[in-house]
Amino acid sequence: MQFEVLARCNTTRARVSRMVLAHGPTMLPTFMPVATQAAIKGLTSQQTEALGVSLILNNTYHLNLRPGINILDQVGGAHAFQGWNRNLLTDSGGFQLVSLSAFTQITEEGALFKSPFDGRMTMLTPEESISIQHAIGADIIMQLDDVVSSLTVGPRVEEAMWRSVRWLDRCIAHHQASGKTATQNLFAIVQGGLDPDLRDKCVNEMIKRKDGVAGFAVGGLSGGEAKDVFWRIIAQCAEKLPADRPRYSMGVGFAEDLLVCVALGIDMADCVFPTRTARFGVALTRNGPLNLKLQRHSRDFAIIEEGCPCPTCTAPISRALLHHQATHETAAAHAITQHNIVFQARLMGGARDAIMNQTFPDYLKTFFRQYFGKQG
Ligand code: GUN
Ligand code: ZN
Repeated sequence: MQFEVLARCNTTRARVSRMVLAHGPTMLPTFMPVATQAAIKGLTSQQTEALGVSLILNNTYHLNLRPGINILDQVGGAHAFQGWNRNLLTDSGGFQLVSLSAFTQITEEGALFKSPFDGRMTMLTPEESISIQHAIGADIIMQLDDVVSSLTVGPRVEEAMWRSVRWLDRCIAHHQASGKTATQNLFAIVQGGLDPDLRDKCVNEMIKRKDGVAGFAVGGLSGGEAKDVFWRIIAQCAEKLPADRPRYSMGVGFAEDLLVCVALGIDMADCVFPTRTARFGVALTRNGPLNLKLQRHSRDFAIIEEGCPCPTCTAPISRALLHHQATHETAAAHAITQHNIVFQARLMGGARDAIMNQTFPDYLKTFFRQYFGKQG
């Protein structure tokens, strides 16, 4: 991986960088849309690429279950399988095991879970997670981490943090031995819940392993904790993590959180929110989310957002048509998904421009005034 910081904001910790992976360059800060099942729901890879997206996220857990490693090996990896020519990041599977399976048991060896297909107990070890991510062929691969809900308190939080450190060592060893380090880049994931002391210990331990990783993520957040607590943990971790590596906040997708994270020094983020909310008929705009299912849009012939260059707004497709289709047709889900992905991309692209021009504080002020002001 090539990673170069191009500009820093004078008044916040925000920065612009250029990351070059095996499938081309990606400008940071960026938002990564989630393609859980080898597609952003409702879109083809060609459509996603045409929107200008250069980095998406797949899930190891889902691709391992279906289509499975045999089919991915046969076709030459997940890029070829889904017809995606740009960069790809895979999450390791730990988070999905805990959030999707009620039967997951964490042991020192790995995560033991019940397969949703055949009901058999299956063990996902750190080594196996890395091997699966090697078969997928993602440009950025994530360590297997021991994830607990951000609302968990007590000794389990510390246990999960230390286990994530030990699992990082196993992921690094397995990755180094694979001969894949030139094309695939391993990221560590900082855990430690909402406890600043545990976060500090975890960051210190993971920095010691800097030579074995290409970047650092902050995990275990966005689970229902208070915003100020979440932001403080991000600020604390981002401040201490090495400046010459990308910093990734996992599961962050609300516009206001993205901009706060960027101001605190975060370079990458992902979340299902913009694409999921699109399927519920909600379009994102600079004046806040617009629920197109509301009756008031039945005679609203405006486009979602004036000046938006997305295929939906330039078609132009009216709010009234989207309102009509949102309850009857899948076409509205496709159309709003494309708009929301472009909204996130423009939000981050605008942040990059503002950081470059030293106007980022004004950009933040304008965004917050418009987004939480009068609804359009
Ligand atoms: N996605 C959102 N949060 C997390 C996390 O803490 N760990 C992993 N692996 N994925 C996540
Ligand atoms: Zn649009």
